[in-house]
Amino acid sequence: MACDLGRFDRRDAGVPAVVPGGPLAPGLEWGMRFDHSRALYERACRTCPGGIHSNVRAHWAPQPMYYDHGRGAHVWDADGNEFIDYVLARGPLLLGHSPAGVLEAVRKQLDRGLMYAGQHVLEIEAAEKFCSMVPCAEMVRFSNSGSEAVQGAMRLARGVTGRRKVLRFEGHYHGWFDNEMWSTAPALDAAGPRESPRATPASKGQVASDAENLVVRPWNDLRLVEAAFDRHRGEIAAILTEPIMCNCGGIMPEPGFLEGLRELCTRDGALLIFDEVITGFRVSLGGAQQHFGVIPDVATFAKGMAGGFPVSAVAGKREYLGAFGDLSISHAGTYNGNAPCMAATLAALTMLGADKGALLQHAHDMGHELMRGIEQLARKAGKDVHVRGVPTAFFVSFNDRERIIDYRTSLGRDREAYARFWLALQERGVRTLPEGLWFVSTAHTQEDVDRTLRAVAEAVEEA
Ligand SMILES: Cc1ncc(COP(=O)(O)O)c(C=O)c1O
Repeated sequence: MACDLGRFDRRDAGVPAVVPGGPLAPGLEWGMRFDHSRALYERACRTCPGGIHSNVRAHWAPQPMYYDHGRGAHVWDADGNEFIDYVLARGPLLLGHSPAGVLEAVRKQLDRGLMYAGQHVLEIEAAEKFCSMVPCAEMVRFSNSGSEAVQGAMRLARGVTGRRKVLRFEGHYHGWFDNEMWSTAPALDAAGPRESPRATPASKGQVASDAENLVVRPWNDLRLVEAAFDRHRGEIAAILTEPIMCNCGGIMPEPGFLEGLRELCTRDGALLIFDEVITGFRVSLGGAQQHFGVIPDVATFAKGMAGGFPVSAVAGKREYLGAFGDLSISHAGTYNGNAPCMAATLAALTMLGADKGALLQHAHDMGHELMRGIEQLARKAGKDVHVRGVPTAFFVSFNDRERIIDYRTSLGRDREAYARFWLALQERGVRTLPEGLWFVSTAHTQEDVDRTLRAVAEAVEEA
């Protein structure tokens, strides 16, 4: 029995039209065996919708896959196939699978209690460490997922400004909550004109009236953002943006764009919110805000801050975060700041910060080499390849467009070719995300990179 994956929108995944569990393509057979994964998937489908617990995991081939264990930069699936892992749980495993220093800290805490619905010293120590690393963070509130943190940041901005609209950008993903999952990958006929796209829901069940509180614009076009502020004068509570467009092509900000957003918010009294759920602690120890030297009022963090444990954060200036503290704006969560997660946060941030960030520097070196190698090998094979982003989170696409600066310019990529490349890598023991995003951890070694590039050299020939 195969699950009905037809309901999931596969457009964005770049996964070709493979029937789950079926042949790779007419006439081709899978070289690698996935029989146990397949059996587990069929079993899971009886009790778990789609055989999965997060819809984004549906986008895989030959079917959603089951994994048995991970160590460092490697992961083993249920059939015993070993992969060099560039998925890294979609980001959180910045220190690789099961980092020893983090596990040790968590183990120490486990026998001392999990949570108290009260405070404990690890929360303070984790907060102090966090605030010492992130430029905008005069204060921080911890929660569990990125979606929660973004929700908290938007409520904060609306609460402190007394305004209701949030300006956000087409193609940015900020979480799956009702007021977050808009215009993430909209069909252009639904989204309308580039200059002022309609806020487009990403799921059935979202309420159209939520769109009234959003203003959507293309990224990297300051003129259009300025025009939106003119049009909605006094109504915009915040600009919400990823400082690097990681989820939609690894697109870097154009020179002056982030600085322009900063200026506009300061002038207008709106808050600048950076969603650093991916970029935080990954682009640099102080996140993208440190890297670009543009300091937001509020920022959200999650993947990468706790060695794989579920921790997120809303951080920012005291004058804004203080509204959580005086209880005028609600922020809550039973699991917020739980002790093992705080132990993991403190340990992970301490490991990252040690030796002037030597671990992160290593990850950047490995990522640089991969980016350069993939580009060279693909060009040598005659492909129009783009490798964009930062070394610890970069995006690979086959695209003959010269300039990719926003969602719409990212759309021309050859998804079928990338899907063939992706499948060929998986067959060679290199696990990446089907849409083209590669995460690199501090655990990847030179040998991993060399092996990966050997696989890339063969896989591009199949793209
Ligand atoms: C930039 C960004 N913000 C928010 C989120 C939501 O985080 P979570 O999946 O932990 O809710 C994600 C998840 O991919 C993300 O990439």
